[in-house]
Amino acid sequence: MTKKVLVTHRLPGERIHDLAHCSDVNVWMGPGLLPAAGLREELAGCHGLVCMLTDRIDRALIDAMPDLEFVSSMSVGVDHVDVSALTERGIPLGNTPGVLVDTTADAAFAMLLAAARRLGEADRFVRQGNWSPENAWSPDFFTGKDVTGATLGIIGLGEIGQAVARRAAGFDMRVLAWNRTPREVPGVESVSLEELLLRSDFVSIHVALTDDTHNLLDAEKIAMMKPGAVLVNTARGGIVDEAALAAALSGGHLYAAGIDVFEREPVSLDNPLLEHSSVVVAPHIGSATVLTRARMADIASENALAALKDQPMPHCVNPEVYG
Ligand code: GLV
Repeated sequence: MTKKVLVTHRLPGERIHDLAHCSDVNVWMGPGLLPAAGLREELAGCHGLVCMLTDRIDRALIDAMPDLEFVSSMSVGVDHVDVSALTERGIPLGNTPGVLVDTTADAAFAMLLAAARRLGEADRFVRQGNWSPENAWSPDFFTGKDVTGATLGIIGLGEIGQAVARRAAGFDMRVLAWNRTPREVPGVESVSLEELLLRSDFVSIHVALTDDTHNLLDAEKIAMMKPGAVLVNTARGGIVDEAALAAALSGGHLYAAGIDVFEREPVSLDNPLLEHSSVVVAPHIGSATVLTRARMADIASENALAALKDQPMPHCVNPEVYG
Protein backbone atom coordinates (compact mmCIF):
# COMPACT_ATOMS: atom_id res chain seq x y z
CA MET A 1 0.00 0.00 0.00
CA THR A 2 1.35 3.46 -0.84
CA LYS A 3 1.50 5.54 2.30
CA LYS A 4 0.05 9.05 2.41
CA VAL A 5 2.19 11.91 3.71
CA LEU A 6 1.14 15.48 4.36
CA VAL A 7 3.81 18.20 4.07
CA THR A 8 2.51 21.45 5.55
CA HIS A 9 4.67 23.81 3.49
CA ARG A 10 6.62 23.84 0.24
CA LEU A 11 10.14 22.85 1.23
CA PRO A 12 13.57 23.82 -0.09
CA GLY A 13 16.39 21.25 -0.44
CA GLU A 14 16.70 18.13 -2.60
CA ARG A 15 15.54 15.24 -0.45
CA ILE A 16 11.88 16.25 -0.40
CA HIS A 17 11.62 15.04 -4.02
CA ASP A 18 12.62 11.51 -2.93
CA LEU A 19 9.56 11.43 -0.70
CA ALA A 20 7.31 11.56 -3.76
CA HIS A 21 9.02 8.43 -5.13
CA CYS A 22 7.98 6.26 -2.23
CA SER A 23 4.75 7.81 -0.94
CA ASP A 24 1.67 9.69 -1.96
CA VAL A 25 2.66 13.24 -0.95
CA ASN A 26 0.26 16.12 -0.46
CA VAL A 27 2.02 19.48 -0.04
CA TRP A 28 0.07 22.46 1.30
CA MET A 29 0.80 25.16 -1.26
CA GLY A 30 -0.49 28.10 0.74
CA PRO A 31 -1.03 30.95 0.58
CA GLY A 32 0.47 31.41 4.04
CA LEU A 33 0.39 28.84 6.79
CA LEU A 34 -1.96 25.89 6.93
CA PRO A 35 -4.64 26.85 9.49
CA ALA A 36 -5.43 24.41 12.33
CA ALA A 37 -8.78 23.35 10.82
CA GLY A 38 -7.11 22.78 7.46
CA LEU A 39 -4.37 20.70 9.10
CA ARG A 40 -6.96 18.44 10.72
CA GLU A 41 -8.76 18.03 7.40
CA GLU A 42 -5.65 17.41 5.28
CA LEU A 43 -4.05 15.05 7.80
CA ALA A 44 -7.08 12.73 8.00
CA GLY A 45 -6.11 9.32 6.61
CA CYS A 46 -2.38 10.20 6.40
CA HIS A 47 0.37 7.91 7.67
CA GLY A 48 3.02 10.58 7.88
CA LEU A 49 3.30 14.28 8.60
CA VAL A 50 6.15 16.64 7.73
CA CYS A 51 5.37 19.80 9.68
CA MET A 52 6.82 23.20 10.63
CA LEU A 53 7.18 24.84 14.05
CA THR A 54 4.09 26.88 13.18
CA ASP A 55 1.86 23.77 13.14
CA ARG A 56 0.34 22.85 16.48
CA ILE A 57 0.40 19.08 16.87
CA ASP A 58 -1.53 18.61 20.10
CA ARG A 59 -3.06 15.54 21.72
CA ALA A 60 -6.53 16.21 20.30
CA LEU A 61 -5.14 16.26 16.76
CA ILE A 62 -3.00 13.15 17.36
CA ASP A 63 -5.96 11.28 18.90
CA ALA A 64 -8.07 12.14 15.86
CA MET A 65 -5.51 10.51 13.48
CA PRO A 66 -5.63 6.72 13.94
CA ASP A 67 -3.52 6.08 10.82
CA LEU A 68 -0.64 8.37 11.83
CA GLU A 69 2.69 6.49 11.95
CA PHE A 70 5.31 9.26 12.03
CA VAL A 71 5.83 13.01 12.42
CA SER A 72 8.88 14.85 11.13
CA SER A 73 9.24 18.51 12.11
CA MET A 74 11.48 20.88 10.18
CA SER A 75 12.75 22.49 13.39
CA VAL A 76 15.09 21.70 16.21
CA GLY A 77 12.55 22.83 18.85
CA VAL A 78 9.53 20.59 19.31
CA ASP A 79 7.49 22.61 21.82
CA HIS A 80 4.71 22.80 19.20
CA VAL A 81 4.26 19.02 19.41
CA ASP A 82 2.79 16.95 22.24
CA VAL A 83 5.69 14.50 22.36
CA SER A 84 4.15 12.36 25.13
CA ALA A 85 0.97 11.86 23.12
CA LEU A 86 3.06 10.62 20.17
CA THR A 87 5.28 8.41 22.33
CA GLU A 88 2.25 6.77 23.97
CA ARG A 89 1.11 5.79 20.50
CA GLY A 90 4.61 4.58 19.50
CA ILE A 91 4.85 7.33 16.87
CA PRO A 92 8.41 8.62 16.24
CA LEU A 93 9.00 12.37 16.08
CA GLY A 94 11.92 13.67 14.00
CA ASN A 95 13.64 17.05 14.32
CA THR A 96 16.58 18.83 12.68
CA PRO A 97 19.41 19.45 15.16
CA GLY A 98 23.00 20.34 14.31
CA VAL A 99 22.66 22.06 10.95
CA LEU A 100 21.28 25.31 12.37
CA VAL A 101 23.77 25.74 15.21
CA ASP A 102 26.12 28.29 13.63
CA THR A 103 23.37 30.16 11.81
CA THR A 104 21.37 30.60 15.01
CA ALA A 105 24.48 31.58 16.99
CA ASP A 106 25.23 34.20 14.31
CA ALA A 107 21.68 35.55 14.69
CA ALA A 108 22.00 35.73 18.48
CA PHE A 109 25.27 37.60 18.20
CA ALA A 110 23.83 39.92 15.54
CA MET A 111 20.95 40.78 17.90
CA LEU A 112 23.35 41.30 20.79
CA LEU A 113 25.46 43.72 18.75
CA ALA A 114 22.42 45.45 17.27
CA ALA A 115 20.85 45.99 20.71
CA ALA A 116 24.14 47.17 22.25
CA ARG A 117 24.87 49.62 19.44
CA ARG A 118 21.24 50.71 18.90
CA LEU A 119 21.15 49.68 15.25
CA GLY A 120 17.35 49.38 15.05
CA GLU A 121 16.91 52.90 16.39
CA ALA A 122 19.69 54.25 14.17
CA ASP A 123 18.23 52.66 11.05
CA ARG A 124 14.78 54.17 11.75
CA PHE A 125 16.36 57.54 12.54
CA VAL A 126 18.04 57.76 9.14
CA ARG A 127 15.11 56.42 7.10
CA GLN A 128 12.61 58.71 8.82
CA GLY A 129 14.64 61.75 7.74
CA ASN A 130 15.67 62.78 11.25
CA TRP A 131 19.38 63.03 10.42
CA SER A 132 19.88 66.74 9.86
CA PRO A 133 22.56 69.37 10.54
CA GLU A 134 20.73 70.20 13.80
CA ASN A 135 20.54 66.56 14.80
CA ALA A 136 23.83 64.97 13.79
CA TRP A 137 27.20 63.84 15.03
CA SER A 138 28.02 64.96 18.55
CA PRO A 139 30.02 63.29 21.32
CA ASP A 140 26.96 61.56 22.73
CA PHE A 141 25.08 61.01 19.46
CA PHE A 142 23.70 57.42 19.37
CA THR A 143 26.16 56.25 21.97
CA GLY A 144 25.57 52.64 23.00
CA LYS A 145 27.10 49.96 25.17
CA ASP A 146 30.47 48.25 24.63
CA VAL A 147 30.44 44.58 23.74
CA THR A 148 34.20 44.01 23.60
CA GLY A 149 35.48 43.04 27.03
CA ALA A 150 32.02 42.78 28.60
CA THR A 151 30.61 39.74 30.43
CA LEU A 152 28.22 37.46 28.57
CA GLY A 153 25.94 35.02 30.40
CA ILE A 154 24.71 32.09 28.35
CA ILE A 155 21.58 30.34 29.59
CA GLY A 156 21.74 26.82 28.17
CA LEU A 157 25.14 25.54 27.12
CA GLY A 158 24.05 23.13 24.40
CA GLU A 159 25.43 23.27 20.87
CA ILE A 160 24.03 26.74 20.10
CA GLY A 161 25.08 28.16 23.48
CA GLN A 162 28.63 26.85 22.91
CA ALA A 163 28.70 28.36 19.41
CA VAL A 164 27.70 31.73 20.93
CA ALA A 165 30.53 31.34 23.48
CA ARG A 166 33.04 30.85 20.62
CA ARG A 167 31.84 34.07 18.99
CA ALA A 168 32.10 35.91 22.32
CA ALA A 169 35.75 34.80 22.64
CA GLY A 170 36.46 36.82 19.47
CA PHE A 171 35.14 39.89 21.29
CA ASP A 172 37.35 39.26 24.36
CA MET A 173 34.24 38.70 26.45
CA ARG A 174 34.25 36.90 29.78
CA VAL A 175 31.76 34.06 29.31
CA LEU A 176 29.60 32.64 32.09
CA ALA A 177 27.09 29.88 31.51
CA TRP A 178 24.32 28.11 33.32
CA ASN A 179 23.16 24.70 32.20
CA ARG A 180 20.75 22.49 34.15
CA THR A 181 23.42 19.77 34.13
CA PRO A 182 26.69 21.75 34.45
CA ARG A 183 29.01 21.34 31.45
CA GLU A 184 32.76 21.84 31.28
CA VAL A 185 33.55 23.95 28.22
CA PRO A 186 37.00 25.56 27.87
CA GLY A 187 36.85 29.33 28.28
CA VAL A 188 33.40 29.21 29.89
CA GLU A 189 32.81 29.63 33.63
CA SER A 190 29.98 27.46 34.89
CA VAL A 191 27.82 29.35 37.44
CA SER A 192 24.34 29.23 38.98
CA LEU A 193 21.54 30.99 37.13
CA GLU A 194 21.35 33.61 39.88
CA GLU A 195 25.10 34.38 39.68
CA LEU A 196 24.91 34.58 35.90
CA LEU A 197 22.09 37.14 36.11
CA LEU A 198 23.91 39.21 38.75
CA ARG A 199 27.20 39.37 36.86
CA SER A 200 26.36 39.49 33.15
CA ASP A 201 26.30 42.64 31.00
CA PHE A 202 24.66 40.58 28.26
CA VAL A 203 22.46 37.52 28.71
CA SER A 204 21.63 35.22 25.79
CA ILE A 205 19.07 32.41 26.06
CA HIS A 206 19.69 29.00 24.46
CA VAL A 207 17.45 26.50 26.25
CA ALA A 208 14.51 24.64 24.76
CA LEU A 209 11.00 25.64 25.83
CA THR A 210 9.66 22.94 28.17
CA ASP A 211 7.40 22.94 31.24
CA ASP A 212 10.58 23.58 33.29
CA THR A 213 11.80 26.55 31.27
CA HIS A 214 8.44 28.26 30.72
CA ASN A 215 8.84 31.76 32.26
CA LEU A 216 12.36 30.83 33.42
CA LEU A 217 13.09 34.54 33.28
CA ASP A 218 10.14 35.83 35.27
CA ALA A 219 9.88 39.22 37.03
CA GLU A 220 11.96 38.00 39.97
CA LYS A 221 14.81 36.70 37.79
CA ILE A 222 14.74 39.78 35.55
CA ALA A 223 15.03 41.94 38.68
CA MET A 224 18.22 40.00 39.55
CA MET A 225 19.88 41.03 36.27
CA LYS A 226 22.74 43.49 36.46
CA PRO A 227 21.47 47.07 36.06
CA GLY A 228 21.97 48.22 32.48
CA ALA A 229 22.20 44.68 31.09
CA VAL A 230 20.95 43.55 27.68
CA LEU A 231 18.81 40.44 27.17
CA VAL A 232 18.90 38.47 23.91
CA ASN A 233 16.35 35.76 23.15
CA THR A 234 16.60 33.67 20.00
CA ALA A 235 15.28 30.49 21.69
CA ARG A 236 11.53 30.62 22.41
CA GLY A 237 9.23 33.41 23.56
CA GLY A 238 7.62 31.53 26.43
CA ILE A 239 10.94 31.39 28.30
CA VAL A 240 10.80 35.13 29.15
CA ASP A 241 7.92 36.93 30.85
CA GLU A 242 7.41 39.61 28.18
CA ALA A 243 5.44 42.00 30.41
CA ALA A 244 8.13 41.81 33.11
CA LEU A 245 10.87 42.43 30.53
CA ALA A 246 8.98 45.43 29.12
CA ALA A 247 8.56 46.81 32.67
CA ALA A 248 12.29 46.37 33.39
CA LEU A 249 13.10 48.31 30.21
CA SER A 250 10.57 51.07 30.99
CA GLY A 251 11.89 51.42 34.53
CA GLY A 252 15.45 51.73 33.21
CA HIS A 253 16.69 48.58 34.99
CA LEU A 254 17.71 47.00 31.67
CA TYR A 255 19.42 48.83 28.82
CA ALA A 256 18.03 47.01 25.78
CA ALA A 257 16.93 43.67 24.38
CA GLY A 258 17.22 41.67 21.17
CA ILE A 259 14.12 39.56 20.69
CA ASP A 260 13.66 37.14 17.79
CA VAL A 261 10.96 34.98 19.40
CA PHE A 262 7.68 35.83 21.10
CA GLU A 263 5.20 34.02 23.32
CA ARG A 264 2.62 34.44 20.56
CA GLU A 265 3.77 34.51 16.93
CA PRO A 266 3.21 36.46 14.74
CA VAL A 267 3.56 39.05 17.49
CA SER A 268 0.62 41.34 18.09
CA LEU A 269 1.31 45.04 17.55
CA ASP A 270 0.17 45.85 21.07
CA ASN A 271 2.91 43.66 22.59
CA PRO A 272 4.57 45.98 25.16
CA LEU A 273 8.06 45.07 23.91
CA LEU A 274 7.34 46.78 20.60
CA GLU A 275 6.85 50.09 22.41
CA HIS A 276 10.52 50.24 23.33
CA SER A 277 12.87 51.76 20.79
CA SER A 278 15.74 49.99 22.58
CA VAL A 279 14.34 46.56 21.71
CA VAL A 280 15.62 45.14 18.44
CA VAL A 281 13.03 42.71 17.12
CA ALA A 282 12.92 40.09 14.39
CA PRO A 283 10.21 37.65 13.25
CA HIS A 284 11.74 34.33 14.44
CA ILE A 285 14.55 34.20 11.88
CA GLY A 286 17.36 32.63 13.93
CA SER A 287 17.96 29.77 11.48
CA ALA A 288 16.91 31.70 8.40
CA THR A 289 19.66 31.41 5.80
CA VAL A 290 19.04 29.83 2.41
CA LEU A 291 21.58 27.06 3.01
CA THR A 292 20.52 26.22 6.57
CA ARG A 293 16.85 26.06 5.67
CA ALA A 294 17.66 23.70 2.77
CA ARG A 295 19.70 21.51 5.13
CA MET A 296 16.89 21.49 7.69
CA ALA A 297 14.37 20.50 4.98
CA ASP A 298 16.71 17.69 3.84
CA ILE A 299 16.96 16.31 7.37
CA ALA A 300 13.19 16.53 7.85
CA SER A 301 12.78 14.64 4.57
CA GLU A 302 15.39 12.03 5.58
CA ASN A 303 13.58 11.43 8.86
CA ALA A 304 10.33 10.90 6.93
CA LEU A 305 12.04 8.64 4.35
CA ALA A 306 13.49 6.46 7.11
CA ALA A 307 10.05 6.13 8.74
CA LEU A 308 8.50 5.17 5.41
CA LYS A 309 11.10 2.41 5.10
CA ASP A 310 10.33 1.22 8.66
CA GLN A 311 13.80 2.30 9.76
CA PRO A 312 14.65 4.46 12.80
CA MET A 313 14.72 8.18 12.02
CA PRO A 314 18.31 9.52 11.97
CA HIS A 315 17.22 12.37 14.29
CA CYS A 316 14.48 11.19 16.58
CA VAL A 317 13.26 13.09 19.66
CA ASN A 318 11.59 10.03 21.25
CA PRO A 319 13.81 7.06 20.26
CA GLU A 320 12.18 5.00 23.04
CA VAL A 321 9.40 4.26 20.52
CA TYR A 322 11.83 1.92 18.78
CA GLY A 323 11.99 -0.20 21.95
C1 GLV B 1 13.74 27.21 15.25
O1 GLV B 1 13.34 27.95 16.07
C2 GLV B 1 13.77 25.78 15.37
O2 GLV B 1 13.34 25.25 16.42
O3 GLV B 1 14.19 25.13 14.41
